Amino acid sequence: MTTTQDATAAETLQFPPGFLWGSATASYQIEGAVAEGGRTPSIWDTYSHTPGRVQGGDTGDVADDHYHRFRDDVALMAELGLTSYRFSISWSRITPQVGPDGIGPVNAEGIAFYSDLVDALLEAGIQPSVTLYHWDLPQALEDAGGWTSRRTAERFGEYAAVVAAALGDRVPMFITLNEPWCSAFLGYASGVHAPGRTEDAAALTAVHHLNLAHGLAAAAIRAAAPTARVAITLNLAWVLPESDSPRDADAARRVDGLQNRLFLDPVLHGRYPQDVLDDTAGVTDWSFVLPGDLEVIAAPLDAFGLNYYSPTIVRYWTRERPKEQADGHGDGAASPWIACEDVEFPVQHGTKTDMGWSIDPRGLTELLLRVAAERPGLELMVTENGAAFPDEVGADGRVVDTDRIDYLRTHLAAVHRAIGEGAPVTAYFVWSFLDNFEWAWGYAKRFGIVHVDYATLARTPKGSALFYADVIRGNAVPA
Ligand code: NOJ
Repeated sequence: MTTTQDATAAETLQFPPGFLWGSATASYQIEGAVAEGGRTPSIWDTYSHTPGRVQGGDTGDVADDHYHRFRDDVALMAELGLTSYRFSISWSRITPQVGPDGIGPVNAEGIAFYSDLVDALLEAGIQPSVTLYHWDLPQALEDAGGWTSRRTAERFGEYAAVVAAALGDRVPMFITLNEPWCSAFLGYASGVHAPGRTEDAAALTAVHHLNLAHGLAAAAIRAAAPTARVAITLNLAWVLPESDSPRDADAARRVDGLQNRLFLDPVLHGRYPQDVLDDTAGVTDWSFVLPGDLEVIAAPLDAFGLNYYSPTIVRYWTRERPKEQADGHGDGAASPWIACEDVEFPVQHGTKTDMGWSIDPRGLTELLLRVAAERPGLELMVTENGAAFPDEVGADGRVVDTDRIDYLRTHLAAVHRAIGEGAPVTAYFVWSFLDNFEWAWGYAKRFGIVHVDYATLARTPKGSALFYADVIRGNAVPA
């Protein structure tokens, strides 16, 4: 077997001409200004302000104050040479009066903010890549059932039409949803994300309505902005059974079903995986899937976004000792893994990031090749990849994050390998441009290539930002 070290050994890895080099963020994680510009609360405002939900009681009230500092942030992106920037739009800024029966009036101030951001990016020669939903559902929709209600999906389609009409002349790429697995299972089953519900049936209902929302939004974008391209971003898991025993293999099948095939199958093939429907029959009868829905969900895609951070090792749990649960695979009291009571995620040895997530770039290659094989010719983008480490600004004003540089280098080598093996990957976005609000972890975890001092909001490019700037300049990972 070739090791990742081999792949990065003294050899420059050249990327295809025109490859997009980006970085990514999300609205609630960086914007702040939650009560400005006509914005109304989202589920993350409510959740973060609920005591005990977010580490340190942190909220996104100020975050990186990107709402007021976006011009400086774009200037910094340009200095580093980014050729694309992936950001998300806060639904509550665009249609603040949305409810289950309608999206309400469009908020000109909300549109203006994103329109100005898009213009600033284009002036700097940076291609905007826009995510429509990165987890901040308007609270009024959650109050009416959230993603358990079909009406949320319908309203999402209408909101997508508004954004596409306003920005579609200048935005070449719209990503409908970011990581719907997290919205459904962390939001409604384990409750470690907003809205914090712990109801398995609700989580499976949410899966379908998120998939439907994607399909409705794809159609709306095509109608309102015919030249824009449409994608979805999934956090596919690289699932490895710990042994080749049939019971470990079955554990891997079920985890793959819940995290990967519940989304890939409807979006790429217009069907739900029968084994997952069978496994979850005791929780729901899936009667919320109505005739015609799967055709809507399987609307053609122009590109596919993959987010990848860490491998997923699974094992059948014999119940002879307490269950192991490696970090990042179901932290919290309730489990996101429905019908997987006998599955455990063994704690891994070796180097980990500050999230406790183990590092294995091979998963990135494997997942890109998997999607390439499932849908030959579909353009692939790595819409997120990166690592948290406890970075500090040194006395000399520099942030030395060699561990992040190693992570990026080996994962870029993994992307390069996937391209070499035939996967049509056209873009890579580092998560994240700035240190930011890491959901239930608050500001305790730093993913940025740019350090943010939360007392002063000063930005300091880390060593990894300079490394990435080098990569971009050469369109290559240097030896
Ligand atoms: C995936 C999410 O899309 C992003 O919001 C989050 O901060 C990163 N992973 C790191 O956990």
